[in-house]
Amino acid sequence: MTKPSASKQSPPPHRTVRVDLGPRSYDVLIGRGILETLGDELQQRQLTGRAVVVTDSAVSSLAMTNAFWKTDAPSKILVPRLHGGIANDRIVPPGEESKNLLQVHELLKTWARQQIPRTGVVFALGGGVIGDLAGFAAAIYLRGIPVVQIPTTLLAMVDSSVGGKTGVNLPEGKNLVGSFHQPSLVLADLDTLKTLPAQEFAAGMAEVIKYGVIADRALFDRVAKGVKPDDDDLGEIIEKCVAIKARIVEQDEFERKGLRAILNFGHTIGHAIEKATGYKKYLHGEAVALGMRAAAWLSHWDGMLPLEDVQSLGKALIANNLPDHLDEPDDSNAIILTHAILNALGNDKKVAEDGKNRWVLLKSLGEAETDIQIELRDVEAALNKLLVPVR
Ligand code: NAD
Ligand code: GLY
Repeated sequence: MTKPSASKQSPPPHRTVRVDLGPRSYDVLIGRGILETLGDELQQRQLTGRAVVVTDSAVSSLAMTNAFWKTDAPSKILVPRLHGGIANDRIVPPGEESKNLLQVHELLKTWARQQIPRTGVVFALGGGVIGDLAGFAAAIYLRGIPVVQIPTTLLAMVDSSVGGKTGVNLPEGKNLVGSFHQPSLVLADLDTLKTLPAQEFAAGMAEVIKYGVIADRALFDRVAKGVKPDDDDLGEIIEKCVAIKARIVEQDEFERKGLRAILNFGHTIGHAIEKATGYKKYLHGEAVALGMRAAAWLSHWDGMLPLEDVQSLGKALIANNLPDHLDEPDDSNAIILTHAILNALGNDKKVAEDGKNRWVLLKSLGEAETDIQIELRDVEAALNKLLVPVR
């Protein structure tokens, strides 16, 4: 990790987290206004082949990103540095619906028509949807070409752009098709967050809080007070999250040793809530927030987490504008939803061969344990807790 340093003439300072994966190692650059340094960063890494940009229509219309990738933009930040220029771009509709095999097919066909070679570079400019979609297409086009992740949501900066998980959804479920394909560079410009809707920023904060509770008590204590996009220490907070993820991914890149599963704290129930509510009611991070609160209760009942820590987590979620309970209008709706969540838990793609969910639970705020089995009645009780707001 590096401390930012700046002089008047120098480019905007940034923090660097190195993800050390041997031949697949790469840097994650984090800073304000650093999009303008992208051309130089690419040149240093010889990522100067023909470029293809994948983005969504909401991101592409932002003045800031527009200046980065449009060939006719006055700043022309990227273009002069790329020997091959920008071959083409593909703008998909915003939202989870774009994360599908049809979009992958369209990307692959476009690149093939444009004869993008193996030395071509895919730029994933956007949130986690774009990162997962473009990353997956890059993973399979010509058996794999480089991808540069340029995350523009908080969630993508702290989570999805780092670690190499790429993929798309099937009608049968989320992220059922995918590949591990590490990026060649990640550049997170915090200035892009200025236009991010507040609800999306809050959803990203759920993942930030997750890093605190699984691995870093001091980080949790800081973010429990609430974080805003213009906070001076946002870069430092993101750096800490990325470093935690990087150290875990370095030990278990392909999620074969059980270590990487720690990143799924709150996600088992979170995914089930998303599925039970048709992916419409809660953003991913909001569902994860609810899942973390339920998992904190399970940790408490398993004899690990003190009650006051369960309460601290609930308060931290509220301080960051995240839901702390399932807001159901009446008892019968609540019962139907609880059943739907339990049903969805049974279909979780990470259920072990014996058909039982394995849980990530907290030993304390700052330390987690994986592979814990829980009785169904405790899961039901945790869901019931979610029907009661934190006081
Ligand atoms: P997203 O990509 O859908 O972005 C959220 C919304 O914000 C979109 O409408 C987008 O157009 C808009 N947006 C993006 N940047 C903006 C900006 N700077 N200003 C204004 N609007 C902006 O959602 P997300 O939360 O970034 O990512 C969610 C996806 O990430 C899910 O598909 C999830 O499965 C995936 N994910 C992947 C991993 C992984 O390890 N690969 C990890 C976590 C989540
Ligand atoms: N988002 C969980 C992981 O990357 O493993």
